[in-house]
Amino acid sequence: MNPVKPAAAAEEATREGRETLTVVDNRTGKQYELPIRNNTIRALDLRQIKLNDNDFGMMSYDPAFSNTALCKSSITFIDGDAGILRYRGYPIEELAEKSTYLETAYLILHGELPTSQELEEWTYHITHHTFIHESIKKFLDGFHYDAHPMGMMISTIAALSTFYPDAKDIFNAESRRKQTWRLIGKMPTLAAFAYRHSLGMPYAYPDNDLSYTGNFLNMLFKTTELTYRPNPTLERALDVLFILHADHEQNCSATAMRNVGSSHVDPYSATAAATAALYGPLHGGANEEVLRMLTEIGSVQRVPEYIKRVKAGEKKLMGFGHRIYKNYDPRARIIKRIADQVFDLMGRNPLLDIALECERIALEDDYFVKRRLYPNVDFYTGLIYQTMGFPVMMFPVLFAIPRTSGWIAQWEEMLLDPEQKIARPRQVYLGQEERSYVPIEERTRHLSRSQSVGGL
Ligand code: CMC
Repeated sequence: MNPVKPAAAAEEATREGRETLTVVDNRTGKQYELPIRNNTIRALDLRQIKLNDNDFGMMSYDPAFSNTALCKSSITFIDGDAGILRYRGYPIEELAEKSTYLETAYLILHGELPTSQELEEWTYHITHHTFIHESIKKFLDGFHYDAHPMGMMISTIAALSTFYPDAKDIFNAESRRKQTWRLIGKMPTLAAFAYRHSLGMPYAYPDNDLSYTGNFLNMLFKTTELTYRPNPTLERALDVLFILHADHEQNCSATAMRNVGSSHVDPYSATAAATAALYGPLHGGANEEVLRMLTEIGSVQRVPEYIKRVKAGEKKLMGFGHRIYKNYDPRARIIKRIADQVFDLMGRNPLLDIALECERIALEDDYFVKRRLYPNVDFYTGLIYQTMGFPVMMFPVLFAIPRTSGWIAQWEEMLLDPEQKIARPRQVYLGQEERSYVPIEERTRHLSRSQSVGGL
């Protein structure tokens, strides 16, 4: 192999301004020129790199998809280093200030802000799909009083598919539109009913004269009053929180939505899968974990000791760190402002001082600075939700409701993209070579293996 040749070819490619990547396989000395599009190479282009004709060809290995673009998308833009988040080009800060959740959901799903007539129609359709079939209440009744509401949500969202078999018609735009109204309309109802079930309270039905978040508060907190009137500050605070949570490009739950949806299952089943992905403590369940962590720390004086345990690898500082943001999460900044408004109205959450101290220490400490760990969206939301009267277990549900619009947009974009197919990654198989079946009486126990499964 002549090492000079590939380098010369690469220089030539540069001179000619070719948008390509030259790869040299040092095992064979062969070189390959791979096209670059949008600053990426296609993983399938690696397949031509072979040791010989019988070789399957090169793959890329990327556990957790840390450096793999799953799709092309025009929904949400994030610049993690600069701390930028935009939906369809609009900065999150402007939307949080000027828009409403339903308008933002329209934008995310349709690509453009609605005209007043479009917004009116959209709001009408969502509002008129807030009721759920009475039989769903029977499922909810079957859960224990202390069932986690996310478990109840996952089950009841999946169950919706059995009520709407027309949802299987996924390549029919009219059907997709209808399921979109239903999903966005019914999520708050399912969530509120799950909450009321845990309290043993009768379900409060939707009030279609109220806003999206106003009605949600009504279904959660209405007691004996004839008409529930939401507090406008809390209604707006929740609406802004919903805007901030509406989409976040290819995170774990959006990827679940796309992957499950790529089998062409109905959108309710895919949304149930996305909700399950969100439930985990590393994703949307983090807001719940933050509250539990702050409660465990218990006082400002005990923060340094807790941080010490985090640095020793015993604990995580929940609500800190992000795969994409290596700067302050722009949503966390807005959330801090909302927190002030809610605390002014409802009184200061006593855990706030502990949270502020965690943030102060972490932003100065070498461990966090070196790893570029900043507060993420979940760090302060729990404090707001708790102050608004939500129990801790409801926090991830408050993430799932608004994220539904993002999930549906991601799902629809995937379905309509001619380059997308059923998701089916590859693996690097490192297991046993072929071997013959051993009859049970001839098998001997391998000590190391039995020890690794707890001595069984
Ligand atoms: N506390 C302490 N150390 C951390 C934390 C944390 N919260 N997050 C990351 N690290 C460390 C991690 O141990 C690793 O250290 P080292 O290089 O010594 O091994 C380094 O920082 C890089 O972290 P990573 O785990 O490779 O990062 P990731 O991109 O795989 O994980 C994350 C991202 C969000 C899962 C992680 O930061 C985390 O677990 N944070 C706490 C949970 C959380 O707040 N999740 C909400 C995320 S934002 C909302 C959402 O998407 O739902």
